[in-house]
Order: sequence, then structure tokens, then C-alpha cells
Amino acid sequence: MHHVRIAPSILAADFGRLTEEVQAVERASADLIHVDVMDGHFVPNLTLGPPVIAALRRATKLPLDVHLMIEEPERWIDAYAEAGADILHVHPEVCPHLHRVVQQIRHAGKQAAVVLNPATPLSVLDYVLEDLSMVLVMSVNPGFGGQSFIPSALGKIAALRRLIDERGLSSTVSISVDGGIKLDNAAAVVEAGATVLVSGSGIFATPDYTATIAELRARGQHALHNRASFRL
Ligand code: DX5
Ligand code: ZN
Repeated sequence: MHHVRIAPSILAADFGRLTEEVQAVERASADLIHVDVMDGHFVPNLTLGPPVIAALRRATKLPLDVHLMIEEPERWIDAYAEAGADILHVHPEVCPHLHRVVQQIRHAGKQAAVVLNPATPLSVLDYVLEDLSMVLVMSVNPGFGGQSFIPSALGKIAALRRLIDERGLSSTVSISVDGGIKLDNAAAVVEAGATVLVSGSGIFATPDYTATIAELRARGQHALHNRASFRL
């Protein structure tokens, strides 16, 4: 039985107090730190690069879950790996050589993840799924925090759950979901098949990170038990 993991997205944190914010969610029992890297080309927003990843690496012991929303990610994988990323997410929409990029991440000693935009089909995973540690289903169009959850993500997560289970990969490939995740939809995404919940404003816009993370985890964990008993 898997556990639900909570990954606060620091895009919604106070960037002027990044170290304190990361340490606050670590104390609040977060499982991963989700870091959004945006290049102003693939997505219409610009955030941070390897030096900030290195600073985060010094600030926390939690794994850094680095979501690369950048063109030509193959040029940057090694820099992000050296800076201290643990999981590196690439978008197939900007990877004509997705298989090669996934191998590049693994050769750098990091966990490889593929992240799918809302309109990107699951079929892009067919020949790389076995090499991944995680698939991230976007439930908003990437670029900004604070957007509303797109309901079609639920069907996509469910289909991906079936694919992973059918291939016997459930112990090696996790399903993560990113965009508009809040207390009110945490159960639904876990019931569909996700076990990692990325949440930016859903955590950082609340006053008590500990309470919010505990409640997200409790609702997710409850849904996970429901799903398990439903399948028995
Ligand atoms: C969106 C990013 C998300 C973002 C989520 O492009 O990938 O990680 O921070 O923010 P919320 O949880 O506020 O939708
Ligand atoms: Zn993200």
C-alpha cells in the first residue's frame, strides 16, 4: 500500500523569504518540495534557475521535485542535477527525443519524470514508462499558480492508473497531479489514482501550513483506502 505524498509548490511561497518558507513546509511534514522552473518561452512566465535550486538544496533535506517548463531541457539537465534536484520532470511537448532525455536524467543519477499538459495524450508514455519514477498529470495549463483545476485530469489519471497497474509498475512509477489542488479535490484525484499531490496556493495561501498539509494528507489517505477496498 502506497502513501499519499504532499509536495508544496514554492511558486506560491514568498520568494523574498524562500529559505524560511521551505523550512516551514518541511516542519509542517511536507514530503517533497516542488520547484517550478519556467523559461518565458515554453510557458509565458519566468521563475528561477540552477543557483536557486542550489540554495534550496542547502535549505532543506527534503527531496527537490523539479518541474522543468523549459525548451530544450537536454541542455540543462546536468546543471539541475548538479545543483541538487532529486526528481527531474520534462515535458514531452518540447522533447522530440524524449527517450534520450529520460536516459540522460537517469545517467545523471536522478529520478526521471514526464509531465503531461492537459491536451497531451498518455500515448507519449508508451515507450518510456518503464524508465520513469513518476508521471505528473497537469490539471491546469502550466505557467501560473492559482488557476482552477481542469476536471478532465481525473479521467486521464484513472486511465494512467490502469496502464501502470496493467504493466506491473505500480511499485516503481508514481502518479502526481499539479494545478488547482486544494482540500476540496484532494480525495477525487487520489481516488482516480494519484498518490502525489502538488499544491501551491492550496498550501501557501493558508495561514497554518501544518494543518493544511495534515488535512490534505488525511483526505488523500482516506481516498486511497477507499480505492484499495473497492478493488478487493
Ligand atoms: C503551474 C505549476 C504549478 C503551480 C501550481 O505551472 O506547475 O506547480 O505552482 O499552483 P497552484 O497549486 O496554485 O495551482
Ligand atoms: Zn509544477
